[in-house]
Amino acid sequence: MTKQATVLSARGPNGIRQSDLLFQPVKVGPLELKNRIVMAPMTRAMSPGGVPGENVAQYYRRRAAGGAGLIVTEGTFIPHRSSGHDQNAPRFYGDDALAGWKRVVDEVHSAGAKIFPQLWHVGLIRKPKVGGAEGVFDDDSRGGRRVGPSGITGGNDLPLAHVSEPATQQEIDEIVEAYGIAAESAHRLGFDGVEVHGAHGYLIDQFLWDKTNLRDDRYGGNISGRSRFGADVIREIRRRVGTDFCVTLRISTWKQQDYSAKLATSPAQWEQIVTPLAEAGVDAFHVSQRRFWEGEFGSDINLAGWTKKLTGKPTITVGSLTLNNSMMEMMEGKGGTPEDNLAPLYRGFERGDYDLVAIGRAMIANPDWALKIRKGESLRPYSLTMLHALD
Ligand code: PHB
Repeated sequence: MTKQATVLSARGPNGIRQSDLLFQPVKVGPLELKNRIVMAPMTRAMSPGGVPGENVAQYYRRRAAGGAGLIVTEGTFIPHRSSGHDQNAPRFYGDDALAGWKRVVDEVHSAGAKIFPQLWHVGLIRKPKVGGAEGVFDDDSRGGRRVGPSGITGGNDLPLAHVSEPATQQEIDEIVEAYGIAAESAHRLGFDGVEVHGAHGYLIDQFLWDKTNLRDDRYGGNISGRSRFGADVIREIRRRVGTDFCVTLRISTWKQQDYSAKLATSPAQWEQIVTPLAEAGVDAFHVSQRRFWEGEFGSDINLAGWTKKLTGKPTITVGSLTLNNSMMEMMEGKGGTPEDNLAPLYRGFERGDYDLVAIGRAMIANPDWALKIRKGESLRPYSLTMLHALD
């Protein structure tokens, strides 16, 4: 019997076969999902000019047909001149891009899954003067400057640098509104909810982090000040889409610029960050770790577990499930081999630490990840070239 088959047949204390834990229906805010399996958002830059084409619709359709209950799309830029950094990553505005997204929604729905777009503003990670679709990636002379809380980028892996002036109140107001407009578009197109990208060192996370947010106005100064921008975004979305539309927020303490960055060093500090976000209207937190099995705050409960405990909201855990390496190690060309790390996942489910799990690269390599896990079949290894393949 393979190791995977052993895990598959084990039964937990509640008598449910452990792999069946993944296939229980779950309610997230107003939304019913058929199972606990989420396709994680992954940037592929396969949408020339920002428009997701038929290949993108088929790519998501295959993962829906492969058994995922919910698909969270790759990050898609909100309608603000400062939001994007890659002309081949999809936009979430303009008739051409929104028509492309409508195809994606229809394909995914007809294959039996739910779908959210991941709404994205890259903040200071935006590279200035990238050529591209008209009006999308302006250079500074046309007003598309890099916007972040204090104009500072940095972290352990990138020296702190002053790259622009702090966001003005007008820019903050415009960007908050842009998230709301994007959520309204998602609602109109028939998406089942939206995910706000608040993780990995992008704009909302730049506000959350004391290294990149040195503001002394209401958007900084202390932990709750640093949470205010994200909370304003969620409130604006809620104001526009009401309560009958699911809103999730992706958060992390690691950043691309600094893997070891911590937004909080204790549960009490984390509570001060996540409580205002939950109160603003988040239905579920999608808590990104590089490795989901690692406990936080000196405990064996991961950050998704703590977030659920502290807010009472459902959580999605994510981070290298069924893979032997983290995303950034893979970018350096390491690993990609399937790893049976389902046992710690099931333990967390049984303990109630989280409600759903997102699968990233392993679901690129295995569009039918869910069906394979259910049947105990072995998984195909992942390699970086698959990210940009057409299937
Ligand atoms: C990436 O393109 O490498 C990327 C995009 C979004 C993330 C993380 C990484 O949240």
